[in-house]
Amino acid sequence: MESEFIKVVITDKKTVATDYGILELTPVGGGALPPFTAGAHIGVKTPEGSMRQYSLAGSPYERGSYRIAVRADRDGRGASRSMVEETSVGGVLEILPPENNFELVPADEYLFIAGGIGITPILSMCHKLWADGQKNFRLIYCTRSREETVFAKELEAAPFASNVTLHHDGGDPERIYDLWPHLETPGAAHVYCCGPKVMMEDVRDMSGHWPAAQIHFEDFRPVEVRRADDREFTVVLKKSNRRLRIPEDQTILETLRKAGYDHRSSCESGVCGACKTVLLDGEADHRDLVLSEGERGRFIMICVSRAAGEEITIDI
Ligand code: FES
Repeated sequence: MESEFIKVVITDKKTVATDYGILELTPVGGGALPPFTAGAHIGVKTPEGSMRQYSLAGSPYERGSYRIAVRADRDGRGASRSMVEETSVGGVLEILPPENNFELVPADEYLFIAGGIGITPILSMCHKLWADGQKNFRLIYCTRSREETVFAKELEAAPFASNVTLHHDGGDPERIYDLWPHLETPGAAHVYCCGPKVMMEDVRDMSGHWPAAQIHFEDFRPVEVRRADDREFTVVLKKSNRRLRIPEDQTILETLRKAGYDHRSSCESGVCGACKTVLLDGEADHRDLVLSEGERGRFIMICVSRAAGEEITIDI
């Protein structure tokens, strides 16, 4: 799979509290955006230059624009901050087309659990289900305060508002919403959860006795291209019959370039799929967000991933 970037213009930006924003994106020069399904995300090249993934919030039946919610992570490396602080109406961003790892499977009943900005894909699901006449769902949406509740107004005005429980804990662990009554007895519902790590871990723990196929999580982690404990390793280039030493501070792709190879790439952040390469031997330390579990033994994204051991062999 390989994706090409699409240029979009920011046609609306709403600030929610200081650290949150909602951006509306439409294609530069008009035209249509690729369709998406509820729960889908897009890759966005941030003003700071990294790739980040953002879920689409709107109904998949509305085709004119994409809406994403952004949050400035004050402890992060600046990419998420730049999406809040360095974007403005009229500005242009490059995005990758929608993909969906959080598909809404057909079910008679749904329980949605969202925390913070994790509401975004779930809001899209609620819009879709309501439009389809499937009204048997409940949404529990937890945030610190109403001010930090992205889409609060939209949820309160939505036709499905009576299906929504908004809960604010003020950042007090004692006031965290008790999900156990909803999860204690496995039922027919499919559970979709997206939110902070601690919330997803809690839901995972509380739903361990549910059939695994009924529990769905969306977890966006920024791709770690470099880590402090990275070390040198060898890449054997099978077709070229060469061995390259990859220094600890370079990616395989960078080293290949220096050695005169012109390998395809695009995002160079492990999210687009352009640099997918056949892995012939050895174990990879996969850092991308592209390859499925089933593909990980056979392929490697050489813009971010490394060898888990001393050596790997790739089909170049
Ligand atoms: S260049 Fe995009 S995943 Fe490697």
